[in-house]
Amino acid sequence: MEKTFIMLKPDALQRDLAGEIIARLEKKGFKLVAAKLMRVSRELAEKHYQEHKGKGFFEPTVAYITSSPVMAMVWEGKNVVAQARSLMGATNPAQADPGSIRGGFAVDVSRNLIHGSDSVESAGREIGLYFSAEEILSYSKAGDEWLSE
Ligand code: RTP
Ligand code: MG
Repeated sequence: MEKTFIMLKPDALQRDLAGEIIARLEKKGFKLVAAKLMRVSRELAEKHYQEHKGKGFFEPTVAYITSSPVMAMVWEGKNVVAQARSLMGATNPAQADPGSIRGGFAVDVSRNLIHGSDSVESAGREIGLYFSAEEILSYSKAGDEWLSE
């Protein structure tokens, strides 16, 4: 089953939105298979955002992500990479659908609450940055058969 890397950024925890955001992913029908509360080091943040190195927002984004604890998670489900991005909404909350996480709970691109992998390839790379293979659990849930055939 497809997996994606989701991070609740420092603002999500500081603003007491972790439960609300996790509830949306749960209610959608995705399965949480790994989670840890952690402080991201500068080294890890640079690896995470390596594709943005050299851009104007790189340094502020690294400073933001390392400023306070985050919750790193792996979620599993059908087309979870794209569907989780859809629940998150556009990168800039000002342009995000108001029903989405970013559109409903954030106002500025520099504090957009949540990270989600942008492709299956990125998901594999990002999951490997934050979790070891044994930290990713495989289990069945009552009701799995009511989510897809
Ligand atoms: P993310 O990687 O965090 O899930 O966000 P994303 O794919 O929607 O957006 P991406 O282009 O990958 O940008 C990564 C993060 O950098 C910050 N950013 N700031 N000030 C700006 O113009 C700007 N642009 C991007 C955001 O925190 C964004 O989520
Ligand atoms: Mg991205």
